[in-house]
Amino acid sequence: VYRAKGKKVAAYRAAEFIQDGMIVGLGTGSTAAFFIEALSLRYKTGLMLEGVVPSSKRSAELARLSSLPVRNLNDVDRIDITVDGADEIDSLKRMIKGGGGAHMREKILAFCSKEMVVIVDESKIVSTVGMTKLPIEILPFGATKTGTNLETLGYEGHWRAEDEVRFITENGNYIYDIPFKTPPLEPERLDQQILRIPGVLETGFFFNLAGRVVIGYENGSVSIWH
Ligand code: 5RP
Repeated sequence: VYRAKGKKVAAYRAAEFIQDGMIVGLGTGSTAAFFIEALSLRYKTGLMLEGVVPSSKRSAELARLSSLPVRNLNDVDRIDITVDGADEIDSLKRMIKGGGGAHMREKILAFCSKEMVVIVDESKIVSTVGMTKLPIEILPFGATKTGTNLETLGYEGHWRAEDEVRFITENGNYIYDIPFKTPPLEPERLDQQILRIPGVLETGFFFNLAGRVVIGYENGSVSIWH
């Protein structure tokens, strides 16, 4: 995994935040996978968990392989902490997620959690959010028209594909990636503008959701933003 050392040390540090009796939300991606590994090691050595709630089939599978007590979001009365990665995060803790196409469920989990702990390697820290691309989840019905409506707003992007086959999210939708030429001056306003278009289900912007941010470095050190 690219930048594996930084991801791993951040994930392992975040696993120390988990306390007996908690219900823990699980993000998706390579950093989140390290967290699931770290959490399962603690679970095997005596940590008690009321449950874990995965944000994707991939993370559910990893959790089940480690015998973690997987539960459904609808069946729990709370989530104490969700731990998830990010594609970009700035000093205001504004994030872009969705590199793995799981941001819609990740955002639901984060919003339902008492705290979202973000785990990243140093390469994810940006001066202002909007350096790479913004993933948008789009309903297949009328998707071509929805794409045109985004272009009309000035946001030309492309449909995410794997081997020329259009990527389908776990929710059965498409991902439209909008590349940034320059970072948006007002990402919050951009987010609102995009969400107003019918057929747009969720953007990869995450605002006012991150609690502690654990940053892992390739030299093995960790820093935490509170
Ligand atoms: C998936 C995500 C991931 O958290 C994000 O893409 C970071 O992935 P990784 O930890 O593999 O670098 O938002 O939808």
